[in-house]
Amino acid sequence: MSKTVELDWENLGFSYIKTDYRYLSYWKNGKWDDGTLTEDNKVHISEGSTALHYGQTVFEGMKAYRTKDGGINLFRPDQNAERMQRSCSRLLMPTIPTSVFIDAVKQVVKANEAYIPPYGTDGSLYLRPYMIGIGDNIGVKPASEYLFSIFCIPVGSYFKGGLIPTNFLISDYDRAAGNGTGAAKVGGNYGGSLLPGSEAHKRNFSDAIYLDPITHTKIEEVGSANFFGITKDHKFITPYSPSILPSITKYSLLYLAKERLGLEVEESDVYVDELDQFAEAGACGTAAVISPIGGIQYKEDFHVFYSETEVGPITQKLYNELTGIQYGEVPAPEGWIVKV
Ligand code: PLP
Ligand code: COI
Repeated sequence: MSKTVELDWENLGFSYIKTDYRYLSYWKNGKWDDGTLTEDNKVHISEGSTALHYGQTVFEGMKAYRTKDGGINLFRPDQNAERMQRSCSRLLMPTIPTSVFIDAVKQVVKANEAYIPPYGTDGSLYLRPYMIGIGDNIGVKPASEYLFSIFCIPVGSYFKGGLIPTNFLISDYDRAAGNGTGAAKVGGNYGGSLLPGSEAHKRNFSDAIYLDPITHTKIEEVGSANFFGITKDHKFITPYSPSILPSITKYSLLYLAKERLGLEVEESDVYVDELDQFAEAGACGTAAVISPIGGIQYKEDFHVFYSETEVGPITQKLYNELTGIQYGEVPAPEGWIVKV
């Protein structure tokens, strides 16, 4: 059994704690340095950093899982590397090659192995890769220098409740513009979501759900996860839109729903006035895993899906399949699991 630090593993939630090491690499004069692990969790940057003024920041979210035999699994880290490359390109930032990204992730996981929640606790080690524009700048143009870092924290459920359904509020605000940065994992999308998110929390909802910014008739996504619904005739449907974040979990579920559960699957428009078609609904993402949605408040109407207190049977099956693969209990499709 590998050694772990003393933590309340069963009740971790999703909060920052300082772990021992983080990866740090700088880009200067057109190239990345070799990157190192450091114990310092403070970032020292110029007051002229574009990250501070113009939102030149991108990030990723991924997890390492402790398996029953004591191994450590990463789930589709190549997909995070590639999405980060697309996010960087959208903000005119340099990119990190996939092999360098995965190697850095492995270094961070190994160096903080004692913080990986033990197998059976449902926890995981959340990894937060990020890149920011730094250096002495002031005009609105790409930074002269960049910092790429990865830190990690042990986590449990993102939404209170885990597999117990929670409720969501359709927001009047837009998360992203039609042709904006919605599909990139950039800081600005999240800064703009703080107010709608806080309004939802104040009214006891888990988070805001956004409608499409052009017609305000179709569900886009949750502030921190994608949306899916299971129709009464067992079809897995998830919104298709150029302004939502292409969730790696969502694409994994599209595959698993079809290939492992034998469901019909579809990425298509999900009209907010057609929620009646769904027997079950959920939010999916790295942090959210699969979080069942009990009900959705839209203006004056509160629409309940399967139940406000119990997870639906298909959502439960998808959860078992996905987390079974992540924790190494269920055979994974080719290339999905990378061992540390
Ligand atoms: N949508 C948003 C806005 C997110 O922040 C996230 C989290 O990464 C997701 C969806 C889910 O994406 P993934 O499954 O790749 O973690
Ligand atoms: C993730 O699931 O990794 C996210 O980025 C969601 C949220 C914590 C921002």
